[in-house]
Amino acid sequence: MTKKAIYPGSFDPVTFGHMDIITRASCIADELVIGVLNNRAKNPLFSLEERVSMIKEMTGDMPNVTVASFDGLLVEFMNEIGATLIVRGLRAVTDFEYELQIAQANHVQDSKIETIFLTTDPKYSYLSSTIVKEFASYGGNIANFVPECFIDRIYKKYQ
Ligand code: PNS
Repeated sequence: MTKKAIYPGSFDPVTFGHMDIITRASCIADELVIGVLNNRAKNPLFSLEERVSMIKEMTGDMPNVTVASFDGLLVEFMNEIGATLIVRGLRAVTDFEYELQIAQANHVQDSKIETIFLTTDPKYSYLSSTIVKEFASYGGNIANFVPECFIDRIYKKYQ
């Protein structure tokens, strides 16, 4: 049986840290779906369509990776697409408490669903989409945070 995994997130915008997890997770799962959350509670910098399209641009050459958006509960979306494994990145101990809670809650919701954590490459352990937006909003250098092709698109959001 092939193992279909999902890497869910907001990806607003996708960073080098996310790309590292995507690349590594694509070597573990047979199929990897990047699940982009349409989070109505948040007011994202990039629209859902833009976020999906940015990740597609970065993963076009990864044959077992697809990108999809979802709305509502992750476990329900996973049942729709037949995925049983959630991949999340852990940057630091501070991530752990929240991630543990979500992983356990998702497993209680549906016992088929397991979560695996990939520890972030130390060179990205400080990096988050929030950090990218904070620096970009002040015109700071974000070249070490996101792929070059996104830099102008991010700055334009603050013009
Ligand atoms: O990139 P993020 O914002 O840290 O990702 C959070 C995400 C998408 C993994 C989480 O919020 C999620 O799965 N949301 C979907 C709604 C849901 O299933 N909630 C219950 C578990 S928190």
